[in-house]
Amino acid sequence: RWPVDKTEKMLENHPHIIQASLWINKNEVIAIPTETVYGLAGNARSDDAIKRIFEAKGRPSDNPLIVHISDLSQLEGLVSSVSDTAQKLMTAFWPGPLTIVLPKGENVSGRVTAGLPTVAVRMPDHEIALAVIAASDVPLAAPSANLSGKPSPTSAQHVYEDLKGRIPGIVDGGSTGVGVESTVVECTGDLVTILRPGGITLEELEKVVGAGRVVVDPGLENEKHAPKSPGMKYTHYAPDAPFVLVDGSVEFLQRLVDKEREAGKRIGILTTEERAGVYKADCVIPAGNRSNPETVAQHLYEALRAFNEAGVDQIFGEVFPKTGVGVAIMNRLEKSAGGNIIKE
Ligand code: TXA
Ligand code: MG
Repeated sequence: RWPVDKTEKMLENHPHIIQASLWINKNEVIAIPTETVYGLAGNARSDDAIKRIFEAKGRPSDNPLIVHISDLSQLEGLVSSVSDTAQKLMTAFWPGPLTIVLPKGENVSGRVTAGLPTVAVRMPDHEIALAVIAASDVPLAAPSANLSGKPSPTSAQHVYEDLKGRIPGIVDGGSTGVGVESTVVECTGDLVTILRPGGITLEELEKVVGAGRVVVDPGLENEKHAPKSPGMKYTHYAPDAPFVLVDGSVEFLQRLVDKEREAGKRIGILTTEERAGVYKADCVIPAGNRSNPETVAQHLYEALRAFNEAGVDQIFGEVFPKTGVGVAIMNRLEKSAGGNIIKE
C-alpha cells in the first residue's frame, strides 16, 4: 500500500503531480515515469481517456493496455478474482516490474482490454507513478509512452520526441531504472506462463512459485503459435535504419561492417562498453556493460534511439546470452531487428 502521508509529501515537493492528476481526472492523458519505461497514463474507467491514449500513440486498437494501481484496494471492480498463485506473485513482486493478467472486473473500460475477458494489472515501483495514481484516485491504464512501433521511452526527452503536440504534458522523473518493460504473466492453477519477458526474470519467478512451475508462452519462440499477448505480434522498438543482429565474433561483425562501408554505406554498431573501442564504423554506440546485463537493459532503448540521430544506413548489433534479464534484452533486440540474425 502506498501510504497517504507519502502522497502528501510528494505533492508538496512536486506540484506538477497535482497538475498531472487534474488532467487525468478530466480524462486527458499524461506521460509519467515508472521504474521500467515512461507510460502514457489515463483513467482506466473512462472510454474517452482510453481513446485518447490509442490516438496519441497511433496504437492498433486490438492491443490491450496495462492498468496501474497504487493500492491493492483498487483491484476492486478492476478484476473479478485473484488466484492463490497471483496473490503470491503480488506479495513477492509488487510494487515492481511484474504485470499479472487476471479475469476482468465490471469497472474497467472495454477499450482497455481490447475486448478480452482478462485485464493486465501492475503496481509500479516508482514514487512519482504511485503518487500520480494515488492523487488521481483511479487506476491508470498506461502503455509505454512511445509512438507505436518505436523503442519505448526511458527519459522525458524520448517521450517529447515522439509525442510533442499530441498530449498535454509529461511528468519528468529523469531516466527510468530498469529500462525494459515489465514481465507479463498469466496464472493457470499453480503454473505461471510468461507472455512477455521483462524486468522480473524466470529465475526470480521460480524462486516464488517453485522450480518447473514457470513456462514461457510457446508463441514467443515458435512462429507456428500465435503469441498469447496481442502486443507480441507487432514489430516494435525499431530504429529508422535497417537493423541486423550478428551472432558471431568481433572479427566477423567487423568484416560485415567493412564490406558495407566499402560499398559507401554509413554503418552503426550496437555494442557494449567493453567492446566500444574495438570496432571501426561510422557510429559505435554502447548500451551498458556486457558483464552487467541489467545495465544493458537500462540503456538499450536510448542506444537504439541514438542511431536515428546519427543518421546511419544500416545497423549491426551484438547478441546476448538468453539467461536472466538477457531473455528480455534478446526479445526486444529480435523484435527490433524484425527477426534478422546473421550467424557466423
Ligand atoms: O513496464 C511496462 O509494462 C510499461 C510501463 C508503462 O508500465 N508498459 C507497457 O505497456 O509496456 P505496453 O502497452 O507497451 O505493453 C503491454 C503489453 C502488450 O504486449 C499487451 O499486448 C499486453 O501487455 N497485454 C495487455 N493486456 C493483456 C491481456 N489482457 N492479456 C494478454 N496480454 C496483455
Ligand atoms: Mg509498448
